[in-house]
Amino acid sequence: MSGSATLRFAHLSDVHLAPMPAAPPRLLLNKRILGWLSWNLKRHRLHRREILDALVADLRAQAPDHLLVTGDLVNISLPEEYERAAAWLAALGPPRQVSLVPGNHDAYVAGAADRGWRHWAAWMRGDAAAEPVFPYLRRRGFVAILGLSTAVPSPPGYASGRLGDAQLRALEAALVALAAEGRFRIVLLHHPALPVSRPRKALEDREAFRAVIRRAGAELVLSGHEHRFHEGFLAGPRGPVPAFVVPSASHGGDLAEKRSGYLLFDIERQAGGWRLGARLRRLVEGELAFADGATRELRLPRPEAGVPAGHLLGGVP
Ligand SMILES: [Fe+2]
Repeated sequence: MSGSATLRFAHLSDVHLAPMPAAPPRLLLNKRILGWLSWNLKRHRLHRREILDALVADLRAQAPDHLLVTGDLVNISLPEEYERAAAWLAALGPPRQVSLVPGNHDAYVAGAADRGWRHWAAWMRGDAAAEPVFPYLRRRGFVAILGLSTAVPSPPGYASGRLGDAQLRALEAALVALAAEGRFRIVLLHHPALPVSRPRKALEDREAFRAVIRRAGAELVLSGHEHRFHEGFLAGPRGPVPAFVVPSASHGGDLAEKRSGYLLFDIERQAGGWRLGARLRRLVEGELAFADGATRELRLPRPEAGVPAGHLLGGVP
């Protein structure tokens, strides 16, 4: 992958893996009971395994170099859900080719993630790391992937997220260093930084995240969580930074805007910049098939031009 001038990434999210395993009653004596009821009354009809499987088959046919998964693999963070999701991940692709960040459903109640995320560690740790530490950093060819965790347990009725100061500081330092390397920087976080979430579902420190991007820049910011497609830009130091929110990978149902989909990105290295082609693949109504939806074509400046000239003189090949 390192030598090619064009790399293809696929982005999917909000897998909400079905079916839900049997839940021992003692594990439901907390917020889980609400999620369990919601799943059994309604969500099991919306998030369907056959749709997810059809999406993965369509995605494979597009032959991406790397897959990006922005969380909510599970529903109420049951121990067995984490194990089933690990099996699903293993079938999706090897850890080298699949980068995962967790969502709020993956940390649905306090303590669940401590054990559950161990099953997913290989897919959400950095190149040099033995354990998942967020943000993690993976270099794939000319691309750098920075994976963040916004997954924190929230009170009943809430689905909010939080990065925290430590992650934000480490993210900024990494973005600056990767700009000096001339990398195409992809930032993954479950909760959108675009202003599309209702307050009880939002990223609490969204403004602080946006301030990091404003100062340090990035080339692409990818999220899920809303189960709808959104696109927009965040302010960056050298121009707008594209941000996308992908629909849920498993959502069927009758609302067209919530229908399952995933994104494909073709990133081409060009003189002085990048060409970014974005394409939404969307579930066709009434079928288990996917077709092209919105497409976008963007040109982005190379980040290293933004670092001081003295640094460039200091040995960038
Ligand atoms: Fe979700």
